[in-house]
Amino acid sequence: MALISTDTELAVKLLNDGEVIGIPTETVYGLAGNALNTDAVASIFEVKNRPTFDPLIIHTHSIEQFENYVEITDDRVYTLAEKFMPGPLTLLLPRKTIIPDLVTSGLDTVAIRIPQHPLTLKLLRQLDFPLAAPSANPFGYISPTSAQHVNHQLGEQINLILDGGECQVGIESTIVGFDGSETIVYRKGGLSIEDIESAVGKVKVIEHSSSNPLAPGMLKSHYAPRKTLILIDIGSEIAQDANRIGYIGDANRIGYIGDANRIGYIGFQNYIPNIPKENQLLLSPTGDFKEAAKNLFAYMRQLDNTDVDIIYTTLLPEKDLGRAINDRIRRATVKA
Ligand code: TXA
Ligand code: MG
Repeated sequence: MALISTDTELAVKLLNDGEVIGIPTETVYGLAGNALNTDAVASIFEVKNRPTFDPLIIHTHSIEQFENYVEITDDRVYTLAEKFMPGPLTLLLPRKTIIPDLVTSGLDTVAIRIPQHPLTLKLLRQLDFPLAAPSANPFGYISPTSAQHVNHQLGEQINLILDGGECQVGIESTIVGFDGSETIVYRKGGLSIEDIESAVGKVKVIEHSSSNPLAPGMLKSHYAPRKTLILIDIGSEIAQDANRIGYIGDANRIGYIGDANRIGYIGFQNYIPNIPKENQLLLSPTGDFKEAAKNLFAYMRQLDNTDVDIIYTTLLPEKDLGRAINDRIRRATVKA
């Protein structure tokens, strides 16, 4: 297993040697390597088992550092950067040639962000290159929000995970790009669309589709637990008829006709009847979207590791971070 430590000196040494390591960010943990070293970048894809057509985000410590790697031709970049960086925002900007093709999958733009985590900012200041870092999960699985999550899944393949505690945001960054005068949200995430619009006006939000996997975070099935996750409408039969509980959803597709004791539930504020309480996890009993985002992946993972057979879940109100959370839930419930 990997060493879990706060030793940034060791992290610097390993990264300078071209190794990949786990790093904390406020959103989710990343699997990081020298973005300017093609071998290190190739190792990231290999460790994650990620297809190379899915480009990586590069991480820097300051907006001044951006200028080494991207062209900034638009004032909206500075407006957003000043307001929200460091923070859960990634910008798609025209790349400079110093960024290897492998990082961007050959695209002309590179995704860039400044993570808001003291340990990782300290690390980035000690490096003379940016870090390419996708979320530190095997491709398609739930993103990790603690060092232990990373160790559990990728610990055999890396030597170090920097321990920054639990991620405070809990879902990935919001990805924003520009097309002429249009501001486009390519992936909903930890910075709400309302916040972005308050800074730069109306944005266009791209909904995910399986037909265009090159677009950011757009693969239809993603963030998924191994167990079948089923979206239910609270207030449907599940709340009323204990005998039929195993038939909620599309029984033919699920193939599950069973015992309520083996059903798990991830809800927003309220428990539902007929499923044992110990199998139910509430994202935020007080209805706080930030708390819900922080708990989402950890709870999916927690139930995935119990002996429930299937997991029911439900959507949150479609506003604020609820939009990004619902996006993750919808994708986790689609099986490819
Ligand atoms: O919060 C985050 O963004 C985390 C932490 C570790 O920083 N990182 C993360 O990386 O979520 P990853 O690789 O799991 O997701 C990055 C997404 C992918 O869906 C990828 O397709 C998209 O960003 N992306 C990266 N570069 C792109 C580009 N040049 N054009 C379009 N999409 C891009
Ligand atoms: Mg990811």
